[in-house]
Amino acid sequence: MLPSVHHALALGISALSAVSAQTYSEPYRPQYHFTPAENWMNDPNGLIYHNDIYHLFYQYNPGGTTWGAMSWGHATSPDLIHWEHQPVALLARGFPDAITEMFFSGTTVADADNTSGFGANGATPLVAMYTSYYPQAQDLPSGKSVVANQQAQSIAYSVDDGMTWTTYDAGNPVIAEPPAEYADQVLEFRDPSVFWHQASGNWVAVVSLAKLHKLLIYTSTDLKSWEYVSEFGPANAVGGVWECPSIFPLALDGDEQDVKWVAQIGLNPGGPPGVTGSGTQYIVGSFDGTSFTADPESMQQTNWLDWGPDFYAALSFNGLPADNRIDITWMNNWQYAAAIPTDPWRSSLTVPRKLSLATINGTATVVQQPIVQNHNSQPRHWSSVPTGNTKLNMTGKAIDAILSFSESTSTEFGLIVRASADLTEQTRVGYNFDTKQLFVDRTQSGETGFEGSFASVYYAPLGSNDGNITLRVLVDWSSVEVFGGAGEVSLTAQIFPSDDSVDTYLFSTDGTTTGVELRAQQVQSVWN
Ligand code: FRU
Repeated sequence: MLPSVHHALALGISALSAVSAQTYSEPYRPQYHFTPAENWMNDPNGLIYHNDIYHLFYQYNPGGTTWGAMSWGHATSPDLIHWEHQPVALLARGFPDAITEMFFSGTTVADADNTSGFGANGATPLVAMYTSYYPQAQDLPSGKSVVANQQAQSIAYSVDDGMTWTTYDAGNPVIAEPPAEYADQVLEFRDPSVFWHQASGNWVAVVSLAKLHKLLIYTSTDLKSWEYVSEFGPANAVGGVWECPSIFPLALDGDEQDVKWVAQIGLNPGGPPGVTGSGTQYIVGSFDGTSFTADPESMQQTNWLDWGPDFYAALSFNGLPADNRIDITWMNNWQYAAAIPTDPWRSSLTVPRKLSLATINGTATVVQQPIVQNHNSQPRHWSSVPTGNTKLNMTGKAIDAILSFSESTSTEFGLIVRASADLTEQTRVGYNFDTKQLFVDRTQSGETGFEGSFASVYYAPLGSNDGNITLRVLVDWSSVEVFGGAGEVSLTAQIFPSDDSVDTYLFSTDGTTTGVELRAQQVQSVWN
């Protein structure tokens, strides 16, 4: 979260202005990634698949293009590819005048058995659990009192399949404070992630004690009254604060008899090596209904869910069938999020990614596969690609490319995307055979000067598969997402190239690269 809540709040509200209907063709506007039509967005919230519809909620400031009057924006999709904007689901209380409560990050569940009692006439209530942030000390309708800047966990419900929401004022906040031993952390207690745990017949919520790098686990039978049952952490990477934690099951190597639990945790600052600012790690372990326990193997190294600079606050969908786990993540970084050169919106989300868990080099590893439009391009082959740049007869600003090649005598091989005619502007996505690293070089990617650390190169470790390397590269008008191997590493970075930087090249450094296959296609806009 931004350090200066009040400053940001003032900025956000003063920026309130009437904005006309957007065309989704403004400079840098992502064509197949989700962006709000206008204004500021950060974390995805409340992802849920319900009645054949995917619901995406997100941290949203309806008052401007910087962090401010945090509310829950809302969009829906039949297929995770096309999104339709919906009215704001939870609007900061008091907006646009004096704000008394903001709606920070959280999650939603479908309460099929109406354990909460919010359902009426047989309709399944959706229940959202979020962090209430109270800018001022106040006495609440529930009779509870909060101090200035308190963060507490509250609920709201919808009985019309997520379209309109009612806050539970009679009882909120339902978790007013952390346990007594952590009473001094009442200003750093946030981001509840709630799910139904079938084996124990309980609701479970994971909440972050952000500064102490702890996850607190609570259980409930009705989503209203919560019992604190255990804590986890600090563990592995503990930079900055821990935010937006969640835990979920995944079958190891597809074996339903060997289900592990994955904790995914945002760190800000404290991302992967070389990343300034935000990052996301995961820890593989087990969960017995009350406690999360890390597997010792998962603690031997820090596991980064993504090695790039623009990947934060990852969240997965509730409501999907077992072992169908799909994440969406904020494609930005608190280090410079408020400075990126986009208007009248700020921030996009990654493409949805299907998660699985596979044993790689003896370690249970999260593998990600992007969910995008079907790829049906014909492969092109080169038995060898010479040293230097080989121009491709494909141009474009939104591209899906699958590149594979063999370990070679060259030092580096890869794709140059979003290149200007004279190549002074370019983004390099490649592989270094010596260091066995995938990299994205955005030092010459276009506009970079809005923040000192932006023009950098980012690296992810990637072994070969019997001497073959595969990269899946998703380029949009202002981003690059790279998936290495089977998706065991990903590297996500924003770029802000000129509109006419549309050329694409293969590059091979200090030698030829052999066994090259490329499948590449332009990606259609999903807007309008
Ligand atoms: C993470 C975060 C959360 C908080 C939200 C506020 O990016 O700081 O911890 O709930 O953003 O917008």
